[in-house]
Amino acid sequence: MRIGILTSGGDCPGINATIRGVCKTAIHHYGMEVIGIHSGFQGLLTKDTEVFTDKSMSGLLNLGGTMLGTSREKPFKKGGIVSDVDKPALIMKNIREIGLDCLVCIGGNGTQKTAAKFAALGVNVVSVPKTIDNDIWGTDFSFGFDSAVSIATDAIDRLHSTASSHKRVMVIEVMGHKAGWIALYSGMAGGGDVILVPEIPYNIKNVGATILNRLKKGKPYSIVVVAEGIVTDRGKRAAAYIAQEIEYETGIETRETVLGYIQRGGSPTPFDRNLSTRMGGHATELIAKGEFGRMIALKGNEISSIPLEEVAGKLKLVTEDHDLVIQGRRMGICFG
Ligand code: F6P
Repeated sequence: MRIGILTSGGDCPGINATIRGVCKTAIHHYGMEVIGIHSGFQGLLTKDTEVFTDKSMSGLLNLGGTMLGTSREKPFKKGGIVSDVDKPALIMKNIREIGLDCLVCIGGNGTQKTAAKFAALGVNVVSVPKTIDNDIWGTDFSFGFDSAVSIATDAIDRLHSTASSHKRVMVIEVMGHKAGWIALYSGMAGGGDVILVPEIPYNIKNVGATILNRLKKGKPYSIVVVAEGIVTDRGKRAAAYIAQEIEYETGIETRETVLGYIQRGGSPTPFDRNLSTRMGGHATELIAKGEFGRMIALKGNEISSIPLEEVAGKLKLVTEDHDLVIQGRRMGICFG
C-alpha cells in the first residue's frame, strides 16, 4: 500500500505532528510506503513529491508550520499554477503515475470540499481536519485551535496589565474567518469584558454601556475581544472599527491590537500534539481497513470518522446556547 500525504490551506500548529502520526504508524505498524506531496494540491499538479522514511519524521512533533509546504490551490477552480489544463484530470493521471493507492488530505474546509470531490471521482481519500478556526463540521475540535487559543489568551493576559495601568479600553482582534470560536474561547479564558463574534449580532450602544458600567463600579479599564469576521462599517477591520466606536460612545481612550499570524505560528500545545498524533494514527487505520471517503473526527474523547460528503460545504459556528456564552452572560460579559 502506497499512501500519498498532503497539507493544504493555511498552516497551523500540529500539522507536522499529524504527518508524523500518519507516517510512523504506516511504516512501523502496517508496513506501508508513504510519499510526501509538496505544497498541497499544487504538488499533485506538478508531481512534486518525496519518499518518506522513518528519518524524515525526526523532530516533527513540536515543529510549527508544515514540513511539506502548503498552498491554497483549488484544483476544481480555474487559475493557480496551471490554468489552461483540466486540473482534476491531470491530478488523477499523476496519482496513477506516482502509484498512489490512497491520499491523506490534511486541511480545513476548502480541503475537505476538494477531498470529497476527488473521493467522488474514485480516489481513495482519507482526510484530517486542520484549522485554528475550529469551524469544520462534524468534529468537536480540529488540531491547531487549542494552540491558537493559548496564544490569544496569553496576548489578552498581557493587554490586561497595560489596560489597567493606563485606564484604557483595549480591543484585540483575533482570527477565525467567519467563526467566533477563537474569540469565544480566548475571550473567556482571558477574562474579556466584551466578546464579539460573527454569529451573535451586536449593538455598539450595549458595548459602550458595559464599559461605562464598569467605570461606575470602579473599573476604569476594559478588555474587548473581537473576532475578525464580525460585521463592520464599509469593510473596516474589526478592531479599528470597534475601537473607534467605543471611544465615541464612552469617551474613554481606546487602543486596538490585531494579533494576526502569530496565532498560527510556532509549536503546538500538548493537547494539539496528542490530538494530531491520534488523528494521524486513526487516519492510517482507516486506510488499512479500506474505509475511504471519510474525515477523521473527535467526538467527546473518542476519535471516529464521518463521510466526507456530510462535511463538505458546511460550517460549524458558535451558537447562543454554547455553555461558554451562557455562563459568560450570567457573569455580566457582553456578547453584543
Ligand atoms: O483559516 C485560518 C486563517 O488563519 C483564518 O483565521 C484567516 O482568516 C485566514 O486563515 C487567513 O488566510 P491567509 O493565510 O490566506 O491570509
